[in-house]
Amino acid sequence: MKYRTIKGVQDILPPDTLLWQHVEATAQEIFALYGFQEIRTPIIEFTELFVRSIGENTDIVEKEMYTFEDRAGRSITLRPEGTASVVRAYIQNHLYNLPAPQKFFYKGPMFRYERPQKGRYRQFHQIGVEAFAVDDPRMDAEIIEMLHLLLDRLGLGNLNTEVNSIGCPNCRPVYRDKLIQYLKDRIDSLCADCQRRYEVNPLRVLDCKVQGCKAAVKDAPRITDFLCNDCKEHFEKFLSYLKALEIPFTINTSMVRGLDYYTRTTFEVTTESLGAQNAVAAGGRYDGLVKEFGGPSTPAIGFAIGMERLITLLKDSKEPPAFCPDVYIVTLGDNAEEKAFGIASALRKGGFSTELSYKGGSLKSQLRRADRLKAKVAIIIGEDELAKGVAVCKRLSDGMQIEVALDEIPKSLEGLLHSPPISVR
Ligand code: HAM
Repeated sequence: MKYRTIKGVQDILPPDTLLWQHVEATAQEIFALYGFQEIRTPIIEFTELFVRSIGENTDIVEKEMYTFEDRAGRSITLRPEGTASVVRAYIQNHLYNLPAPQKFFYKGPMFRYERPQKGRYRQFHQIGVEAFAVDDPRMDAEIIEMLHLLLDRLGLGNLNTEVNSIGCPNCRPVYRDKLIQYLKDRIDSLCADCQRRYEVNPLRVLDCKVQGCKAAVKDAPRITDFLCNDCKEHFEKFLSYLKALEIPFTINTSMVRGLDYYTRTTFEVTTESLGAQNAVAAGGRYDGLVKEFGGPSTPAIGFAIGMERLITLLKDSKEPPAFCPDVYIVTLGDNAEEKAFGIASALRKGGFSTELSYKGGSLKSQLRRADRLKAKVAIIIGEDELAKGVAVCKRLSDGMQIEVALDEIPKSLEGLLHSPPISVR
């Protein structure tokens, strides 16, 4: 074949698209309960936006961004995540003037030049939320509750919620120094990547997957022991609210997240059934970012769900959905075919999804096609029926059939589609 998709990106095809639509619709429903409205930001932004927010020494900025120069020589990047763009839009459009709290959700493709593997793609999709202007730890617990409610509605249990606090600009530097000191003494046990980055981004070493690094950080100082009083109080209250909402969680003090903008609360929802790429959703607070970008000092918190990972979990856990037309029209003869064309048009306008049998063929072969499409009802029109001005409507689940006048088809269909099936002996 001459043209194929680029490595690490994929087509999303039916029937999976039905599952995607289901997840998106359910998310929208749940988010509305908590007051989140949709925001749509561009897929391209100035590179600087991501460098400044995600952080110069992160994997994303160092090696994963799709960056190019546009025709005017400006550096542009395909968004690797959604938070930076929402914060930019928040400031640029003065959304802080809306009644607080301002809550937004978004969905769409993100781009990271990572090594593709199961659950990790170069174009992937997120559904994310961002809530601005509330620093109360109840908000932290509430958005985790919202995430849980969504996953629950989708039928996904058995997920772990890991939480942590990574402090603030007051307390993190103290911890950072302690950690650098600790790592310096074990430098030889660290992987090449960590040896290089431990001084600029020591927290990343904590969640390095290389065995040597894992062993080296086993007894490392824990960030939660270094929180300032305000961060400590915030974390304790947050945990107590999670308990009050009966959300099971574990504290993981090595969970540091791969983006630099976080302060205080961070969290990840993980599963054992996805292999190495085990985070289905992740997020946290970023109380300093709006101010850093030139907006008013505004606390904020959010998360993003990895759609591909969520869909994989859903496909593993239940029957894939199928698109089943309400009606398949079987026609025998040219006159019937012509009549069926108008009937199909009327049925669709009346709200019934309808397929025509363009290929003709015997009654048996057309009914077989109706079955393969999983149509609910077959409408059969032959020359005899046409002469009498009727059609046979056959419910395919149990074979029940009735003869109806052509102009009464929609009314009879209602009955056939919604009456209980007769038992088949
Ligand atoms: P993140 O942890 O980089 O956070 O990504 C969130 C989720 O996106 C991950 O847990 C994972 O499910 C999915 N994901 C990330 N990279 C890939 C990939 N290459 N292929 C497939 N799925 C992937 C953020 O993006 C933050 N913006 C989340 C956030 C919102 N924090 C606050 N607000």
